[in-house]
Amino acid sequence: MIGFQNIGLIAIVAIAATVQAKWIVPGARWTDTDGGLVNAHAGGVILDQTTGRFFWFGEYKVEGQVEGGGVSVYSSDDLATWKNEGIALSPIEGHPYIAPEHIIQRPKVLYSKNTGKYHMWWHADNSTYGWLLQGFAQSDNITGPYKFLDATTPLGNWSQDFGLFTDYKDGKAYGLYSNGDRKEGRDVYLTSYNDDITALDQVVHRFDKYDLEAPTIIQTEKSYFALMSHKTGYRPNNVVAFRADSLKGPWSQPFTVSPLNTRTYNSQSGFSLRIEGTKKTTYLYLGDQWDSNSLWESRYIWLPVEIDENKKDLKIEWYDVYDLNVKTGEVTPIKGQAYYGKNAVTNGDAFKQEATFGSDGIILTGITGNDSTVTFSNIEGAGKPQWVSFYYQNTDDMGFGDQPGGSPDRFGGKWQLRRISSVIVNGDAKNVETLFQRDTNKGIILSTPLLLNLTKGSKNTITVGGLWNGFETKGADLDHLVVYPPEG
Ligand SMILES: *[C@@H]1O[C@H](CO)[C@@H](O)[C@H](O)[C@H]1NC(C)=O
Ligand SMILES: *[C@@H]1O[C@H](CO)[C@@H](O)[C@H](O)[C@H]1NC(C)=O
Ligand SMILES: *[C@@H]1O[C@H](CO)[C@@H](O)[C@H](O)[C@H]1NC(C)=O
Ligand SMILES: *[C@@H]1O[C@H](CO)[C@@H](O)[C@H](O)[C@H]1NC(C)=O
Ligand SMILES: *[C@@H]1O[C@H](CO)[C@@H](O)[C@H](O)[C@H]1NC(C)=O
Repeated sequence: MIGFQNIGLIAIVAIAATVQAKWIVPGARWTDTDGGLVNAHAGGVILDQTTGRFFWFGEYKVEGQVEGGGVSVYSSDDLATWKNEGIALSPIEGHPYIAPEHIIQRPKVLYSKNTGKYHMWWHADNSTYGWLLQGFAQSDNITGPYKFLDATTPLGNWSQDFGLFTDYKDGKAYGLYSNGDRKEGRDVYLTSYNDDITALDQVVHRFDKYDLEAPTIIQTEKSYFALMSHKTGYRPNNVVAFRADSLKGPWSQPFTVSPLNTRTYNSQSGFSLRIEGTKKTTYLYLGDQWDSNSLWESRYIWLPVEIDENKKDLKIEWYDVYDLNVKTGEVTPIKGQAYYGKNAVTNGDAFKQEATFGSDGIILTGITGNDSTVTFSNIEGAGKPQWVSFYYQNTDDMGFGDQPGGSPDRFGGKWQLRRISSVIVNGDAKNVETLFQRDTNKGIILSTPLLLNLTKGSKNTITVGGLWNGFETKGADLDHLVVYPPEG
């Protein structure tokens, strides 16, 4: 009887799993339905009322190039499975504002009922950030092609990092923008659009002299939370939020939204989504995990946000792998099996070092090259690709170049934002996976995922070595691994 019931339960679970949408895995290499890397950086996502699909617009970046890729667009039903819809706004050779050498950053799209068209806005600039303008393009079709209309100074001022917010209660749209790094600037503006969404019309609030950028607003029933990052270029920092009952303010003091020194789980703010499900309204933080060494390979950190209206507080929650049901609004963290450093075998110069912040009071360090490796064994696998999260510490702290107070443990005077490890499953040296481990902070452990093929059974091994990062052959310190069940 018991056996029969168990089989019944397993069958139900299996069916439920196959109808589930794809999981969201922050910081992984996200691929589209054609197998390409999802290439839409510093973007924005909108739910299109006509098709009922989500559309994600972002900066398109290719290897060896910083600017000039234009704006890409992807579509999805579940925010996890993305179809490449091509380039929505293409650069035009010789164009005064959108030539390949110009900056087209932080693009956002929204629908204008009055014009019956989709409107795209972005930070338009020349390569030395000398213009500080906002670009405007239009299309009849959400995926484009968008036609360039203008690049303007918002109400006569400067505009750098650009964000867009629509109030779900009255449908009114607002532009958000930092007004540059000059001494007279360093503010973030919240400015309403006219009814056609063809121009800004009135400053609603100015976040004065906080010197923040990459703004986005999360709206709940009672509150507005404005999230912004500090200005540290492509290096992550601790994102802050302000809260208010009304867009006009008064706004609260800024406060941090993630555990200190995780630098917002190694990401920068820029966009957010409100998902009104049948069971729950869920808020998502859509951050960028920049890789300044290869911008085109930068990743995405999308995480649910927990809001406590009584405490007037907001926190971004980390999950390695989670399921988001966009219909019900529910977020389900996926449970995995942990394997700790204490039980791993070290080879060569790798060793277990005392660490108060590590699991079991140790951390695995000295992971360099081919022969100084660590091996985790007796890992249970399912015989299908599975997400494995590597919990690591990379002590090559971010700092400000040669300024006093900068961290001493940089290599060769160049700030490195990543170490790189090799990952080998079951000793198969022909299949080496590359694990990027961006800087954390001393004593801060973060995780980064890889999709690995483990064989069915509990005899798998995972061996981690160090790879060349442009300065040295060194992996980050490892704390533990978490192996997740296969999807579907
Ligand atoms: C960008 O624009 C500014 C202001 O017009 C100008 O001073 C600067 O030389 C321009 N940069 C380039 C690369 O043309
Ligand atoms: C508009 O976009 C949709 C979705 O990508 C596409 O199927 C359709 O052909 C496009 N229509 C035009 C007129 O380009
Ligand atoms: C531009 O921004 C600066 C700083 O926020 C402000 O002092 C100035 O009045 C603004 N200029 C205009 C024309 O709005
Ligand atoms: C690892 O070993 C291979 C084969 O011996 C060698 O070619 C390669 O350079 C080594 N890599 C590192 C990072 O030491
Ligand atoms: C894992 O297996 C799949 C087929 O199931 C294959 O396409 C993929 O390349 C494999 N990945 C690795 C890292 O071996």
